[in-house]
Amino acid sequence: MQPLESQVLAQLESLKKDSNTRSLFLQKHHGTTLIIQDSALLNLASNDYLGLSSDKDFNQRFLDSTLFKEHCYFSSSSSRLLSGNFEIYTLLESHLKTLFGKESLLFNSGYHANIGAISALSALNVLFVADKSIHASHIDGLKGFKTPNFKRFSHNDMESLKKILEQNVECYDSIIILSEGLFSMEGDFTPLLDLIALKKSYPNVYLYIDEAHSIGSFGKNGLGLCANLGVLKDIDFLILTFGKALSSMGACVLCNTIFKDYFINTARALIYSTALPPINIARTLFVFLELSKLEEKREVLATLCNSFKTSLQENLDLEILGDYNIISLVLGQNAKAIHFSKSLAKEGYFAPAIKTPSVPKNKALLRFSLTANLESKPLENLVKILQKITYATP
Ligand SMILES: Cc1ncc(COP(=O)(O)O)c(C=O)c1O
Repeated sequence: MQPLESQVLAQLESLKKDSNTRSLFLQKHHGTTLIIQDSALLNLASNDYLGLSSDKDFNQRFLDSTLFKEHCYFSSSSSRLLSGNFEIYTLLESHLKTLFGKESLLFNSGYHANIGAISALSALNVLFVADKSIHASHIDGLKGFKTPNFKRFSHNDMESLKKILEQNVECYDSIIILSEGLFSMEGDFTPLLDLIALKKSYPNVYLYIDEAHSIGSFGKNGLGLCANLGVLKDIDFLILTFGKALSSMGACVLCNTIFKDYFINTARALIYSTALPPINIARTLFVFLELSKLEEKREVLATLCNSFKTSLQENLDLEILGDYNIISLVLGQNAKAIHFSKSLAKEGYFAPAIKTPSVPKNKALLRFSLTANLESKPLENLVKILQKITYATP
């Protein structure tokens, strides 16, 4: 018999061999600067895409608002299904319904929303067909409830998806396609119009799209990819998260009334967890109310992303991924990505190595998240440093 501790130590040792251990380190934040062990690093790992969380004027306006004053409770002290359903929850859900034309149901985070909704749906006679690069919270939702019916298609590959649909559409009552608006690791958009066309060629196929990385930062009024393409009515489940560009916390599932009612009754992540503090929901509503006025920040972000990617492409002989605010260099081995990340830290940049299981084996990435409060000069310099590291690395 092996005691628990030795089993754990063996697992940690195996992670170490793959250069795949994780650790928490103390950080201090000053705008776009991170202080780690007395080093000041430019933060290229934040999802605060519009730079709102440290925008003093914006934050002061929230503190001065009636939303802040009237909903200043620091805990909901209960699940929404008990006594935690404060008025502000309904106000935000109604506003989201006005913006997106769908019922909305709030969850404590994107992780909660995905495990809650997907595990609830997996109790039905349904096949899930997920993009290979789908976020871990979708996978955990699929594993969470019972052994789900679950297949995966190659990343953004419509032929691969079509094949799976053709082979399975008659074997299940329903099929749900899981994809992301803008993928969290590769940073590329899903071919949404193609997904919709495929869905529409069958009577029993549904679309579940996660816009964690495109809500707020992308599209007219910052409403994300689906709204921007005018296809909201074709999306059956739309996930928005509030902890990234919206500089708050929480998430919602947008869907029809029947599904909302079903999730209220069956989504364990909603039922069995204390609801987020009302003040947090007030912050999210405040940001949604301001979102259409932040066009200039989105333009600054788009320009930064575009010139950074172009410069990487012109100066590095590496595969570069990403269509917008997430840009990644494909480096292969975990150790190589870690080496790049550590070398950049010495030069004053914080860009994490993304290793398995976040990406497939031997597809380790160096990932840059760009935010509207960055300046272009340090990014131009970063490309030169990356050039040097590339030439010096076998
Ligand atoms: C695509 C996607 N969905 C969901 C989540 C989880 O959201 P949250 O951080 O609000 O739990 C993330 C987080 O990175 C994500 O990238």
